[in-house]
Amino acid sequence: MPEPSETPDSTASEPSTEPNRPDSDAFTVTPYAVDGEIDYEKLLERFGADPLTDEQINRFPDHPLLRRRTFYAGRDVDDYLEAAAVGDPHAIVTGRGPSGAMHLGHVLPLYLAKRFQRATGATVYVPLSDDEKFLAKDQSFDSIGEHTRENLRDVLAVGFDPERTRIVVDTADADVVYPIAVRLAKHLTPATVEAVYGDQDTVGLQFYPAVQATHLLLPQLVAGRQPTLVPIAVDQDPHVRVCRDVAAKEALPVDKPGALLGRFLPGLEGPGKMSSSGGAPSIELTDDPESVAETIRTHAYTGSRATLAEHREKGGDPTVDVPFQYLRFFFEPDDEELERIAADYRAGDLLSGELKELAIERISDFLADHQRRRAELGSLETELEPYRLTDRERRRALERAGVPTGLEG
Ligand code: TRP
Repeated sequence: MPEPSETPDSTASEPSTEPNRPDSDAFTVTPYAVDGEIDYEKLLERFGADPLTDEQINRFPDHPLLRRRTFYAGRDVDDYLEAAAVGDPHAIVTGRGPSGAMHLGHVLPLYLAKRFQRATGATVYVPLSDDEKFLAKDQSFDSIGEHTRENLRDVLAVGFDPERTRIVVDTADADVVYPIAVRLAKHLTPATVEAVYGDQDTVGLQFYPAVQATHLLLPQLVAGRQPTLVPIAVDQDPHVRVCRDVAAKEALPVDKPGALLGRFLPGLEGPGKMSSSGGAPSIELTDDPESVAETIRTHAYTGSRATLAEHREKGGDPTVDVPFQYLRFFFEPDDEELERIAADYRAGDLLSGELKELAIERISDFLADHQRRRAELGSLETELEPYRLTDRERRRALERAGVPTGLEG
């Protein structure tokens, strides 16, 4: 059972006041800075989250991202699993910061959410934080707006059930987002923001955590108390912690949202975070098969040996091979097949060029389906309509949050 909201959240109040980079650890992970060699287990101690147990993994709908522990930790996962098991309302929030074209790493959590929705009827909220990206990136509102529209097409192409899915854009849905964020911001001190996120350049970014906290509470504010799970890469966990903290302090009629925390997908250049802003190219959702092939052939980091003869003799290392890792994360769902590929690679029977071709084929097939659905979409306005909050839902959310607009009542 969820803790009553008056109880201080031990997971939020302790780690959140720690400096975000203790001297003893050589890595930083916050929503705005990821750097150093990440120790994923140590991070859990630092953040106060729990590793997923085998039992928990088995209770989730079967998916390679969980089965193979790319999502490896969580907060309050049992409440979500229980509601999903008995058919009680349960929700997922998985957002997107529209600062550029979406690449493979961005869309995998959305497909995971779709899988959960199909399996147990989860309500899925997809907030787009255009405000955050305007503040965090050196881009005009026009440019962020363009990315927002393109990203929305990708979100729509995933194929969520409109009855059970709500897509929210911060600036376009400010009528509901802003008053709730203001209420939450009342308990968000500059000291907390500094401790959790590090130094922020503007007051805009200092305020933004109240907006993301709003996203995480929206399913409950719209439709009533229910376990909410936020599947995110670990760098976004601070937002969940802050939300849990302020939601409790404001005594809103909600349970603290839970989290499903994931490791970063490696960039093509090798281990680390797949970044749309850093050096090596990434695979974009709009890439055609030729560019996918070209990008992987020329840029993917492999675990092969220096020479063909040596590879044949000593074998390759799938654990660092990026094409293999892509198959492992998502694109080869069959465990036996994946193990066979790994064994052949280790034995030197499979060459890294051949492994690359396997990954190219799977990724291209996946993208072909995604792109077909994307191309079939009509105008954005029309397509988005069934996914927008209704007037009634907006009113309910504001009522539950105790923030009627000044013109009412
Ligand atoms: N801040 C996230 C990013 O930079 C995007 C985001 C906004 C989000 N709201 C969210 C992610 C809610 C998960 C849940 O990518």
